[in-house]
Amino acid sequence: MKTRILFVCLGNICRSPTAEAVFRVIAAREIADLELVIDSAGTAAYHIGEPPDRRTREAAARRGYDLSDLRARMVEPEDFERFDLILAMDRQNLRMLERRAPMPVRERIRLFLEYAPEAGETEVPDPYYGGANGFEHVLDLIEAASRGLCAALRSGEAVSAGSAAR
Ligand code: 4NP
Repeated sequence: MKTRILFVCLGNICRSPTAEAVFRVIAAREIADLELVIDSAGTAAYHIGEPPDRRTREAAARRGYDLSDLRARMVEPEDFERFDLILAMDRQNLRMLERRAPMPVRERIRLFLEYAPEAGETEVPDPYYGGANGFEHVLDLIEAASRGLCAALRSGEAVSAGSAAR
């Protein structure tokens, strides 16, 4: 059975496309036997159709992640039916998702950094208006949470009983 995972930030040009690409690489290495669908989307419409931010692409490329094929899209109502896990980068986007999701779907919406308790942070900070170090920090947090999510998926702890109906 496939597990479908959606990463969500505001613009879908910095944090969530990074999570999509990083998690894809780490999952292929650590849980290659699991069938996954991995995607990302934004809660805001500002950047629909655009590739990821240049600073995001360059920082990711320095660690071997290729974001060049990704294009920004907005979360749509069907996403709440399709995905087993919807992982928000911060509380602002978590709240936005919870407001839009039908009630039974809300338990599938979580903060991504729940999978990196050792990071000591609960949100992936928005790097858009900050300095270069912000993009490195985003990558550090996302790599840690991707490893944690792989471990949770391997042990069957990541997806709760009320997962997507198909
Ligand atoms: P993201 O970063 O949510 O990680 O993609 C942002 C991208 C664009 C904007 C804000 C955050 N913006 O305000 O345009």
